[in-house]
Amino acid sequence: MTETTQQRGPWWKHAVGYQIYPRSFADGNGDGVGDLPGIIGRLDHLADLGIGFIWLSPVYASPQRDNGYDISDYQAIHPEYGTLNDFETLVEEARARGIGIVMDLVVNHSSDEHAWFRAAAASREGPEHEYYIWRDGRPGGLPPTDRMAIFGGPAWTYVEAVDRWYLHTFSPGQPDLNWMNPGLRAEIFAMMNWWIERGIAGFRMDVIDLIGKDVDRDLFDEGPYIWDHLAEMAKATFHGRDLVTIGESWAVSRESIMRYIGEDGALDMMFHFDHVKLGWDTRFHKFKLREVTPLMLKREFIAWQTTLREEGWDALFLSNHDLPRQVSRYGDPGAHRVTSAKALATMLHMMRGTPFVYQGEEIGMTNFRASGIDQLRDVEVHGQYDQFMKAGLSHEEFMAGVNLNGRDNARTPMQWDDSEGAGFTSADPWLGLNPNHTELNVAADRRDPEGVFEYYRKLIALRGAHPVIAEGGFQAHLENHPAIFAFTRGHRAQRLSVMVNLTGEEQTFTVPDAMAGSGNCLISTHAPRRGLQGEITMAPWEAFALLR
Ligand code: GLC
Ligand code: CA
Repeated sequence: MTETTQQRGPWWKHAVGYQIYPRSFADGNGDGVGDLPGIIGRLDHLADLGIGFIWLSPVYASPQRDNGYDISDYQAIHPEYGTLNDFETLVEEARARGIGIVMDLVVNHSSDEHAWFRAAAASREGPEHEYYIWRDGRPGGLPPTDRMAIFGGPAWTYVEAVDRWYLHTFSPGQPDLNWMNPGLRAEIFAMMNWWIERGIAGFRMDVIDLIGKDVDRDLFDEGPYIWDHLAEMAKATFHGRDLVTIGESWAVSRESIMRYIGEDGALDMMFHFDHVKLGWDTRFHKFKLREVTPLMLKREFIAWQTTLREEGWDALFLSNHDLPRQVSRYGDPGAHRVTSAKALATMLHMMRGTPFVYQGEEIGMTNFRASGIDQLRDVEVHGQYDQFMKAGLSHEEFMAGVNLNGRDNARTPMQWDDSEGAGFTSADPWLGLNPNHTELNVAADRRDPEGVFEYYRKLIALRGAHPVIAEGGFQAHLENHPAIFAFTRGHRAQRLSVMVNLTGEEQTFTVPDAMAGSGNCLISTHAPRRGLQGEITMAPWEAFALLR
């Protein structure tokens, strides 16, 4: 291999991840719900894009109250999605295209329909009772504490048969597992090994910091036992195997990140959310937003990139199944939809870390507009509506918040073509399609050489071709500029200069000395630039990367 194509370090440092939300990706059997055969039928789309692995949101057996983040059997496939055979075919067919399958590990809680919970809620006697977190109520029929569930209502539900309350951090259908119980831990580790034996490429670990909680001291986020549990898990399962492990944590900070992913940490990288939470109001959670300026957003990225610039590794994302569409949130879904989609992608894919593409992002999909909550399916929206109305938010404010930031925005079905079911389904889709699928769809975008897909394909290929993109350090420039995100990446003699205009206005500014000079334009949303010198003007949402 030549100097420029030689790759060092583990495979996942050179790969791009792609998240599939199975319910909404492709419906293979015409029942309105996405499934595994549907995914298999669309693998060539992902191979063309050039991704290295798929993070598959949960496909396990589940009553689907939180679309699979409520698991009733960890070793079975949800019947609407297919069979274990289909899963094995998916692993093989993906592998044949150089794509690994990363499973979603949801072990902070199970479903209340899991056999463990049924036994646990029927009697205090069996071992399963201790697999969950039970406490006695307070006098007067009050729950053990005043803690609220993330999806609305109290975090405790009473079960008469055992005369106790169980803890559920999320909905009542998602009872928290008791990680203090060694029997439970052994069950989880055996289950993980069972999946590893099926040839998966790794795990994305749902709200993983919550497994370390100390309920009686009210320590939930990054609880005191997290480090022991993760170390034990690694040793019992993935340690020493060629797998990727990606934790999800809404609590991890720049101060704590290295405890997860440093030399003594168990994991490879973490999804962290400082940039997402920037606009959240504390009282009304995510349904009343504050303005997030480009400067706020870029500062958050600079801070994290700086923390992880030598040691450590970042998981880079703007979108996922819990977040609004990135073009709607940070870009311009109107006149500059295509250009702003490309600009945001350039920013993300040129930073240090493993970038993740959420389904539909590669064609610049946008939020949809619901007029009432009956058009929404998300357990979070339905669970919080009454509570927020009581707390003083108006219906109109709530709907405005949901349309900006609700999770259903990311979950409307994938838009494959302009047909009635958008190429997603031949039936009625489980959640309404975005009406813009008649123009905004994979077929139309891929026909356009200036389309979003082609740009993503190029960005992803560049990562494989130039080690500086994956391995280079990170240095920010023009740090206080309100619109321009400028940074350099350095690796051996190579230097990559990246500039992104994060606004819909033209920007004129002086190139900082450290970025001046001529170079080879690797990618650009506009006419390629040959060099950077003196005063330059960037067009609305212009972005480029120069290598020298
Ligand atoms: C994570 C998931 C989210 C889910 C929650 C509970 O944040 O990404 O979709 O609702 O955990 O499992
Ligand atoms: Ca189906």
